[in-house]
Amino acid sequence: MTDTTAPAYSGPKRIFSGIQPTGNLHLGNYLGALKKFVDLQATEWETIYCVVDQHAITQAPDVWGGPELLASYTRQIAAAYLAAGIDPKRSIIFAQSAVREHTELAWVFNCVARMGWVERMTQFKDKAGKDAERASVGLFTYPVLMAADILLYKATHVPVGDDQKQHLELSRDIAERFNRDFNVPDFFPVPEPLIKGPGARIMSLKDGTKKMSKSDPSDLSRINLVDDSDTIAKKIKKATTDPLGPMPEDVKGLEGRPEVENLVGIYSAVSGESVEAVVAKYAGQGFGVFKPALAEVMVAHLAPITARYREIMDDPAEVDRVLRDGADRARAIAAPIMDEVRRTVGFWGA
Ligand code: AMP
Ligand code: TRP
Repeated sequence: MTDTTAPAYSGPKRIFSGIQPTGNLHLGNYLGALKKFVDLQATEWETIYCVVDQHAITQAPDVWGGPELLASYTRQIAAAYLAAGIDPKRSIIFAQSAVREHTELAWVFNCVARMGWVERMTQFKDKAGKDAERASVGLFTYPVLMAADILLYKATHVPVGDDQKQHLELSRDIAERFNRDFNVPDFFPVPEPLIKGPGARIMSLKDGTKKMSKSDPSDLSRINLVDDSDTIAKKIKKATTDPLGPMPEDVKGLEGRPEVENLVGIYSAVSGESVEAVVAKYAGQGFGVFKPALAEVMVAHLAPITARYREIMDDPAEVDRVLRDGADRARAIAAPIMDEVRRTVGFWGA
């Protein structure tokens, strides 16, 4: 699953990833990130999964819901982690804001990262839109905080969707630069992205060239993790295809058909069957056959998760207990690493 060869760093292997508590999770978040978080528990590696609430506030309060809603959105993501199959005994689940060292390390990294590196980040340009002067400074340094999230735990591997690739490259640059500037070779591992797989880039159901996203105004463009079976079936039925005929005869026939390729990719990611196998199974069939079959595998996979999610959300105190326990365990790893950073930088009293 690793994209490149393992780093020279010889410390323990550790997985870290995070999801922002902004809006409902959709199938892209699930297949690009959450499902991988769950699958990685089968390795011997330590797994740490964060709800990155400090990243959420980089945009205006009306975008992330405002102070009355933020904590409950954080609980919702934690509940989705649990519902998808993250075991709170096996993995650490916690809220970023509960471990103060994240922002402390982010400051040091703000002084390690170069303006030119951060200015290249395309997600800032997308999110800031035309009026970048009005974007918050936090939105600009967002990827620096992300590097701090990962490196505060000396995490070696980071499962994310394809859209986070550039941010991971920045984290790698920051780790290398810190190690070099402070003359501590191998202090921070250079973290590896875990991106590959059929779910790395799930596209909108309405436009095969746009990624599935929380912010798309059309709810028909995405499958939400909380959608019921009828809604899923309806959205798949209404998903855009193309006038280029029925299902292709082979994988090459997916070229130039982004909408069909996306639906086949979703089928493959959800069922665990390869893209080749899915194409072979439905070769030459009409969408009247393929779409209901796709809806069926999706419902079979997602309905138990949705049901568990609703059950867990009925007991928010239990979710809070998981988050508190996770924060204690996260802090126990983070605090000594931050102490080492303080000493390395040369701060008074460290
Ligand atoms: P966010 O909601 O932006 O915090 O994203 C959470 C995770 O979902 C990140 O790892 C993203 O890369 C991943 N993700 C978001 N949208 C998609 C998508 N359309 N396809 C695959 N992965 C995605
Ligand atoms: N930037 C990520 C996203 O939008 C979320 C994130 C924040 C993250 N910190 C992280 C992902 C650390 C992986 C590791 O999806």
